[in-house]
Amino acid sequence: MLRAVMPTPTAENHLRFPENFLWGTATSPTQVEGHLDNEWTRFTAQDGGNCHVACDHYHRYPEDIGWMSQLGVNAYRFGIEWSRLQSAPFAPLNPSELARYVDVLDRLRAAGITPMVVLHHFSNPPWINAAGGWTSAATIPAFVDYVRKLVAALKERVFLWNTFNEPDTYACVAYLMGGFPPQRKWHLGQFRRVIEHMARAHVQASCVIRREGVAGRKLEVGIAKNWTFFHAHNRFSPWDRATALACHYTFNKFVLDAFLGRWRRRASTFIGLNYYGRVRFHHFRAMIPASGTPLKELKDFGFICDDMVERYPEGMEKILGYLRRKFRLPIYITEHGSASTDEHFRELDLRQNLAALHRSIQAGADVRGFFYWSLLDNFEWQFGYTKKFGLLAVDFADPKLPRSLKPLAQVYAQICRENRVRANGS
Ligand code: FCB
Repeated sequence: MLRAVMPTPTAENHLRFPENFLWGTATSPTQVEGHLDNEWTRFTAQDGGNCHVACDHYHRYPEDIGWMSQLGVNAYRFGIEWSRLQSAPFAPLNPSELARYVDVLDRLRAAGITPMVVLHHFSNPPWINAAGGWTSAATIPAFVDYVRKLVAALKERVFLWNTFNEPDTYACVAYLMGGFPPQRKWHLGQFRRVIEHMARAHVQASCVIRREGVAGRKLEVGIAKNWTFFHAHNRFSPWDRATALACHYTFNKFVLDAFLGRWRRRASTFIGLNYYGRVRFHHFRAMIPASGTPLKELKDFGFICDDMVERYPEGMEKILGYLRRKFRLPIYITEHGSASTDEHFRELDLRQNLAALHRSIQAGADVRGFFYWSLLDNFEWQFGYTKKFGLLAVDFADPKLPRSLKPLAQVYAQICRENRVRANGS
């Protein structure tokens, strides 16, 4: 059972976070960089959009790091795009692309921002896809070779490494739901194979990473696991309960066991948790906007949702308690955020989730940082540009792609600077 320890508010009724807590923001290459050649290059999203230019972060990263300084974040989680760095299996790393990422890291360091580097975020080089992607076991040594070369090149600059971002989401949406390339549906065998191959690659890549370190400081490594709660809307409906349970076993339990079960747990030094909320089933339907259920209908059911899933801040505390007891590893919240044009809604969601996070820390969870998803409004995969997750707005109608701070950015900046959040979650 989770201990019901109340947060200790400071005199001003604020919840203070541990010293040296990382307050960050997050992006991924395909969603913000533009000018890429991976499986998303030829993909058209539901809104007709594509990732060809996205936020042009590829060229504008100096400006975007400037925005991060304005936000007062002390950490940034971002991906290094494999397809930029290797043109064939076991090839040397492309020197000019590597130099660009080194420049990103140097500018972050100059701004006092700690990087967390993601090695795989829903995309692969074309030659990996052509050979079957992660359904093929041959992808494992190719990936580990890439990691070995990248870590050797960057180990002086990066000590937090995230091997895979949400392998569960990737394998599910690409091989069961048909939403991500290669858009396969109901290939359960391929889903399981992708997870198993990624888990083996994670363990091998983690060994490579953990062997490295500079100045007495060892490198840290972990995956980022998306955790969604799956519940039946009506707990007396056996069918909806069975659906929820099947989802929980497939996407939570099976995946966690594959990456962190038994001896494999020893490969990781931390767990990254991406937490957004929950999905409830009603007559087999997933009652969330991301599955097409209109917000209005969800409101009538009494559900509180952003433009993607149901919000469930108490779930933050539940999952952190579970991970703490089961794995006893440090945790980073590698993603949390909400998509909406209602900034008050987003502020409330942030405060409620941070209050739940604070309660978990009080109860003993060793949580070391929180990365807001996302720095910028961006290319949200199959949904294109319709989901507004950014702390900064990007005007995609203007070819100059100007950025501007949203009201939530001011709220987050204050939290980052003060290392505390108002206690009442409101
Ligand atoms: C997570 C993904 C991230 C983004 C957010 C909204 O599942 O890791 O790229 O799509 O959801």
